[in-house]
Amino acid sequence: MFKIKPIPSDRLPTLLRLMPKAELHMHIEGSLEPELMFALAKRNGLTMPYADVEALRGAYVFDNLQDFLDIYHQGTLVLRTEQDFYDMTTAYLTRAAADNVVHTEIFFDTQTHTGHGLSTEVVINGLHRACVDAQATLGVSAVLILCFLRHLSEAEAFECLEQAEPFLDKLVGVGLASSEQGNPPEKFARVFAKARALGLRAVAHAGEEGPPAYIWSALDDLKVERIDHGVQAMNDPLLMARLVKDKIPLTVCPLSNLKLRVFPTLAEHNLGRLLDAGIVATVNSDDPAYFGGYINQNFTETFEALGLGAPQAYQLARHSFEASFITDARKAQFIDRLNTTFESFN
Ligand code: HPA
Ligand code: ZN
Repeated sequence: MFKIKPIPSDRLPTLLRLMPKAELHMHIEGSLEPELMFALAKRNGLTMPYADVEALRGAYVFDNLQDFLDIYHQGTLVLRTEQDFYDMTTAYLTRAAADNVVHTEIFFDTQTHTGHGLSTEVVINGLHRACVDAQATLGVSAVLILCFLRHLSEAEAFECLEQAEPFLDKLVGVGLASSEQGNPPEKFARVFAKARALGLRAVAHAGEEGPPAYIWSALDDLKVERIDHGVQAMNDPLLMARLVKDKIPLTVCPLSNLKLRVFPTLAEHNLGRLLDAGIVATVNSDDPAYFGGYINQNFTETFEALGLGAPQAYQLARHSFEASFITDARKAQFIDRLNTTFESFN
C-alpha cells in the first residue's frame, strides 16, 4: 500500500479539503438550503410556514430520525418543476466541487414528489440534466440512486419502480430510505430483486438507528452491495466479520449521526474503530443543509473530535472510490489522483 508521509496537525484541514473524494451517501432533497427553499417557494407562488431563513434554520433541532424526516418532508413541498430539481442539484454539485468531490452518487426519491402530484419524469429529468451539465461545467461526475421509502408499502415501491422504468438509463441503482425502525429491509426483498434484474445496483440504509439484524437482512434479503450508515454493526461481532470478509462498504455520515443523536458526541463516534476493524468505511454528508455541513465539514469536525490523521484521510478517500459504482479503470484513475495529492502535499 502507498506510504503516507506524516503531516503537521495544522495542515490536516487543508489536506482533507484538497484530497479528491467521492460522496456516496447524500439525499439531494436534504441539500436544499433555506435560502433556495424560500426562493423556490416565491417562484412557485407558495407561502413558507416560517417567517424567514433564520426561523427555518432555528427549527432544525432533532431528537431522532423521525423528527428530521417530518421537517425534511415539509421542505420538499417547494419543489414543483423540473427546473426546481435542476437548480437544487446544481447548487449541491457546485458546493461539492468546492470540497473536491470528483464523483458523487446522489440519492433521491420519487414517492415524496409523486405524493405531491408531480410526475416521476419531472423529477428524474431535472436531476439528470443537472448531473450531465455538472460534468461539463464543474468536472464532477454524478449518477443517481432512486430510494424507495420504507414507511410505504411493498406495492407502492413496485409502482415507484415501474414509473421509473422508462428512465432506467438515467439511474445507476436503487436504495432504501426513510423511517428505519419497524420497517425492516425484508419487506422490500421482491422489489429489490426486480430492480437488480433490471440491471440496477443496490444499496440500503440499515443500522442507522435500527439493529444489526436489519444490516443482515439488507445483505441477505436485498443483496445490497453497500450499507448506508451501518454504524450499529459494531454491536455484532459476527456481522463485523462478514462486512470485513466481503468488503461491504459502509457509507458513514458523522454529522448526521450527531444531529440525530445516534452518538451523543462526535468524540464517541465509531468511525475510527470501524477503520481499525478493517471496514471499508467512507465519510458522507447525508442531508448537508440540515445536519450542519457538507462533506469537508464532516471530515474536519470528525477528524478533530477523534484525533484522526493523514493515514485515515487517505484510507477514507480511497475507500470512497473503491466503494463507488464506477468502472475499475475509473477507480484506478481517481486513486492515482489521490496518490499524487498525498505525494505532493507538504
Ligand atoms: N435516513 C433515512 N432516510 C433519510 C435520511 C436518513 O438519514 N435522510 C433522508 N432520508
Ligand atoms: Zn441517508
